[in-house]
Amino acid sequence: MLDWEQIFATRSSRMRASEIRELLKLLDQPDIISFAGGIPDPALFPDVAFKEAYSDIFSGAQVNAALQYSVSEGYKPLREWIARDVAKIGIDCTPDNVFITSGSQQALDYLGKLFLSPNDTALVTWPTYLGALSAFNAYEPNYDQLSLNGNRTPEAYRDTAAKTGGAVKFAYLSADFSNPTGETIDLAARERLLALADELDIAILEDAAYQHLRYDGEAIPPIMALDIARRGGIENTRTIYSGSFSKTLAPGLRVGFVVAAMPVIRKLVLMKQAADLHSSTINQIAIEHVASRGFDAQVAKIRSVYSKRRDAMLAALDKYMPKNATWTRPEGGMFVWVTLPEGMDGAELLAKSIATEKVAFVPGRAFYADGSNANTLRMSFSCADEAMIDEGIKRLGRLISNAIRAAA
Ligand SMILES: Cc1ncc(COP(=O)(O)O)c(C=O)c1O
Repeated sequence: MLDWEQIFATRSSRMRASEIRELLKLLDQPDIISFAGGIPDPALFPDVAFKEAYSDIFSGAQVNAALQYSVSEGYKPLREWIARDVAKIGIDCTPDNVFITSGSQQALDYLGKLFLSPNDTALVTWPTYLGALSAFNAYEPNYDQLSLNGNRTPEAYRDTAAKTGGAVKFAYLSADFSNPTGETIDLAARERLLALADELDIAILEDAAYQHLRYDGEAIPPIMALDIARRGGIENTRTIYSGSFSKTLAPGLRVGFVVAAMPVIRKLVLMKQAADLHSSTINQIAIEHVASRGFDAQVAKIRSVYSKRRDAMLAALDKYMPKNATWTRPEGGMFVWVTLPEGMDGAELLAKSIATEKVAFVPGRAFYADGSNANTLRMSFSCADEAMIDEGIKRLGRLISNAIRAAA
């Protein structure tokens, strides 16, 4: 028998299915209330608009182009639409600064490949998006904790990177409604991050997957917009902005994008030529079709539904959670992040919760690059209605209260 592990590249050693994934497989049971998936509610997909879009494509002259190979940069009218859309939030760019990816997940893979040599350091928040860690892991980096309150000096980051034989290359974060905490980075912290990145001379990867899902509070300019404003134009920036149609229109079409200065875009285009040539032509055309005819109405619809679910989850947490648990109060996105007393373990709790209360969530440890903070939980409110949210949190509150009492 061939010993596959012996001949796999070293980069594959960090590619492992987590124990959490095994537990989450149990979610197929129909009677489970799930706060686990970070996915949009399929009932909100603009399916009629997509049906019309594909029907128009197939009944018009565009069909041949839609089924043909196309350019690696992406479908021009879609890049033009995106350039207009991001201009509304202060990201002034040309369509040439926009590069289409197969979901923003592909952008994370490409950016990891573009910047990280083995042992280089990626700065990430503690916790961070698990899919970003999975994407970057293939390039064998080290991770260091990105502090957004300014309490670490540039030297501290440099020293840590030097000890592991590499250099700091970028800071990755979501500034709005992050996965997993739902939190927003305030303006002062965004400015501090830009100053830190200047000092370290590194890139900032701004993951804006949830950008359009704000339910209340004042919108804060993206880091990319602040960078453009202070540098006088996108070509002088160090920020790379990634966005997605997955949370607003539909994830199954796999259309995301990157906005960046031309030297970055030119490299990404070469990488795409080598990896998959281009993202699905027909899906890019359909996304452009649906976005240009009704993006704002679609976003208004999903915001109205998700904001009520967010309110229901926060109200239920207030009602049912024991006093020594704390949680975030997100102004948007899909997640609430719960912190339990020290010593509690989210993975153990999930196993019990699925077995006895039939409620699922994601244990928080997986979102930490160092696997710490086992006493945290990610709860998504996107796919459950208000009554289910109340019932699910009630059961979970009971389980957690009992677990805390048993541990006391
Ligand atoms: C923060 C964040 N970034 C990127 C992605 C990837 O999304 P997609 O590839 O569908 O654009 C997700 C998906 O959940 C996410 O939560």
